[in-house]
Amino acid sequence: MKYKILYFFTILTPLLVMGQHEILIDASKTKAKIASTMYGIFFEDINFAADGGIYAELIKNRSFEFDEPKLGWTEPQTYQYGFNRQSGESQILRYNQLRPNKRFIRVQVSDDTNYSLVNEGFRGIGIKTKATYDFSISASNARGISAIVISLIDGDKELASERLEISPNSDWNTYETALVAYAEAQKAQLKLEFEGSGEIDLDMISLFPQNTYKGRKKGLRKDIVEWLEGMNPGFLRFPGGCIVEGRTLEKRYQWKKTIGTIDMRESLINRWNTEFNHRPTPDYFQSFGLGFFEYFQLAEDLGAEPMPILGCGMACQFNTAELAPLDELDEYIQDALDLIEFANADETTYWGNLRTQMGHPKPFDMKYIGIGNEQWGPEYIKRFTLFEKVIKEKYPEIIIVSGSGPFPDGDFFDYGWSELKKLNAEIVDEHFYQTPNWFRENADRYDNYDRNGPQVFAGEYAAQSVGTTNPENKNNWECALSEAAFMTGLERNADIVRMSSYAPLLAHVDAWQWKTDLIWFDNLTSFGTPSYYVQTMYGNNAGTDLLNLLIDGNQAVGQNEVYGSAVKDIKNNELILKLVNTSDESKSFSLNLNGVSIHTVMERIDLQSDELDDENSIEHPMKIAPKTSSHPFNVNSDQLKMAPYSFSVVRFKISS
Ligand code: AHR
Repeated sequence: MKYKILYFFTILTPLLVMGQHEILIDASKTKAKIASTMYGIFFEDINFAADGGIYAELIKNRSFEFDEPKLGWTEPQTYQYGFNRQSGESQILRYNQLRPNKRFIRVQVSDDTNYSLVNEGFRGIGIKTKATYDFSISASNARGISAIVISLIDGDKELASERLEISPNSDWNTYETALVAYAEAQKAQLKLEFEGSGEIDLDMISLFPQNTYKGRKKGLRKDIVEWLEGMNPGFLRFPGGCIVEGRTLEKRYQWKKTIGTIDMRESLINRWNTEFNHRPTPDYFQSFGLGFFEYFQLAEDLGAEPMPILGCGMACQFNTAELAPLDELDEYIQDALDLIEFANADETTYWGNLRTQMGHPKPFDMKYIGIGNEQWGPEYIKRFTLFEKVIKEKYPEIIIVSGSGPFPDGDFFDYGWSELKKLNAEIVDEHFYQTPNWFRENADRYDNYDRNGPQVFAGEYAAQSVGTTNPENKNNWECALSEAAFMTGLERNADIVRMSSYAPLLAHVDAWQWKTDLIWFDNLTSFGTPSYYVQTMYGNNAGTDLLNLLIDGNQAVGQNEVYGSAVKDIKNNELILKLVNTSDESKSFSLNLNGVSIHTVMERIDLQSDELDDENSIEHPMKIAPKTSSHPFNVNSDQLKMAPYSFSVVRFKISS
């Protein structure tokens, strides 16, 4: 009998408690303070993220600066009896003086009923019913043309129309009007028709929705910025990405060309325009309507630390890998010094004065600067050393972010890290675009990092369902769940991981170059991917103090396909757990707490799907979205339950 009872317990007890685990949290000690920059945003000008995306301008190639100067514009003429009636034409002209905005268009009309100039927008113009659109145009030399009729059209359907009288003036004047749309269209066009016959010069033809973020005239697209707000980001890294480096040095991103009045910002071909044969994007240029001033302003609006990244005299090493000679690096280093002055100095300085004139007398209080985006090898280290020396001499308080190249391990990575350690680098940026499995297996990546070396910026990461840069990649639930598991490892190592950001951030459904991406949009609407919701759940529950959490006596790095981390939020007096169950089975956890007692209500945010392949889309934007609930919870008797394939944030009010 005795043996029978023993047999019963030995065999059945494990079966009874299968799927049950014990969480032990030690809240008596803070393992590390969590940096306010822990979860942030990487804004990259890729996939129509800036022009055609967050920058709300609706007219593509508004000042005829593209390499193909009429790209985006057509001049439909009617034909009578099979003949083009030659009722109008246009020419692209250069201004006499040397200036950043080099060209304008001269329209000659002989029959005002028969000539129009049409802009197709960024893969169409999104128009909403009853919304108001601000139109503006620069015109000069109007001879015989007395008015321009501006219409929004969708095929044969007119959505809005207004008439602008033009003065017969030889100077350049800006004319403005507002159009209210009677109907909605995803891919409308802008049409200009001319009254009279004669000629007129035109430039800066622009259309913005009035309803921009914070109602700023010619500002940012509201819905997209609101997605960013939803992340509660600790920092904003901008403007890329490889565009910082440029395909060649000549085409690198130069911040000084992106500030000042909009019409004097020099457009640049975007490096992503021709990067992938599978995604040619000849119409992707940078107008810099979203320039460095606007990026700083966006960071301020989001309550995020601004973190500009500058080129270091190395063009993209995947492209030309062109190098600025070491003895010609002064110009590049000066750009960094001037940027700090632009962001932080008062109006008595040259650059501080420029910022003031742009409407922001208060400094932006920039603390971080990135030198080089994704560089590797000895040439990077040589250049970084020079930048670091000069910047630190003048601005010792500025924290410099360096980089370890494009891969999470291997020769480039090892070399970069060992050299940067020797230089006492402060924060090293790491990039990983890897399989979902890699993310799950690397939840312990930082557990054994050197605590005496530089801190880490996990600056670009995203699980790739097929493979890096593969156009078949999907933002599916498996990717997001694996990122959630990996992020418990970022959090558990908050003593050395100071910043992290998913990449890339934004993509237009018709004009992307790179998949996967955090937030997708078309001309009218936008949605967050499951990965987006993972980021928001971390960003809004970052906490202030890292605690030790064990599951069944171990750090929770994937045993039984469970991952976990715990933090305390001393501002809100809360204990916050993040738990990820990547298995296809439910799990239950008892909760043992040391050094804290919790109140009897548990707040939960759950993100879950039974299908690892599930995605969100324009049609089904909330297929996978967080669900918030609250439950009574008795720590002595209740179990914390996790559904299969789920990520949960669990919060309790605490008393110590
Ligand atoms: O995010 C896409 C690209 O990935 C970035 O431009 C680059 O930094 C990395 O290789």
